[in-house]
Amino acid sequence: MTAVAEAPAQKVGEVASFTVTMRVMRYLPDENGDAVPRWDEFQVESHGTDRVLDALHKIKWEQDGSLTFRRSCAHGVCGSDAMRINGRNRLACKTLLKDLDPSKPITVEPIKGLPVVKDLVVDMEPFFASYREIMPFLITTGNEPTKERLQSAAQRERFDDTTKCILCAACTSSCPVFWTDGQYFGPAAIVNAHRFIFDSRDEGGAQRLEILNDKEGVWRCRTTFNCTEACPRGIEVTKAIQEVKRAMITRAF
Ligand code: SF4
Ligand code: F3S
Ligand code: FES
Repeated sequence: MTAVAEAPAQKVGEVASFTVTMRVMRYLPDENGDAVPRWDEFQVESHGTDRVLDALHKIKWEQDGSLTFRRSCAHGVCGSDAMRINGRNRLACKTLLKDLDPSKPITVEPIKGLPVVKDLVVDMEPFFASYREIMPFLITTGNEPTKERLQSAAQRERFDDTTKCILCAACTSSCPVFWTDGQYFGPAAIVNAHRFIFDSRDEGGAQRLEILNDKEGVWRCRTTFNCTEACPRGIEVTKAIQEVKRAMITRAF
């Protein structure tokens, strides 16, 4: 009988591990609210599929429980973990360490333009105040309808892109105009205004355009495109802003 060579045992699910240096900006205000931000370095044992969020969890759970950051869904849906990673706004839960060249230190900072509360947590209230101002809800007049408000596929397509926003603030906090004084409405508020202005069922478009015709509104945009590059949902943010500007001039929407 001929002997049959056995195939080498296959190790299922094995991925390379490596050690990555995480440089994390720390900010721990004292009783007077004063503090000087500093960089802390951590060595983190990681695996091939680990994300920046996994590395931050390992630091918090195994090395320094005081490290503070926001996260919830861990799957790119809730928008709570936008941070500046290697100098670019990204979601920590959608950024793989291996895509960042883990042979070099990976820097993690809070997003810019909003007050830092602690470590990577910023005060989102100014961001949400602008969001609330553009009235992010369907506005209709008259009696309640007796049947469904129908919409054609083409009408739905008109604002499809801007429905994808998860309010992570990666766009607004990457905008140099917003950095100057924090007064500009910012791309996220305009994206969410766009979502309703171009919805055929909505009747509040003129009001929203009036709100954004403010000195802190759409005309402050300098078409820098940082917002479009930063958006983790791939929304064409600058294009949406241009469409709102055009609607303001033509009143066609
Ligand atoms: Fe985030 Fe994109 Fe929405 Fe801006 S437009 S808040 S980057 S999802
Ligand atoms: Fe700012 Fe985006 Fe305009 S980065 S300047 S809102 S194109
Ligand atoms: Fe929800 Fe990253 S934790 S988007």
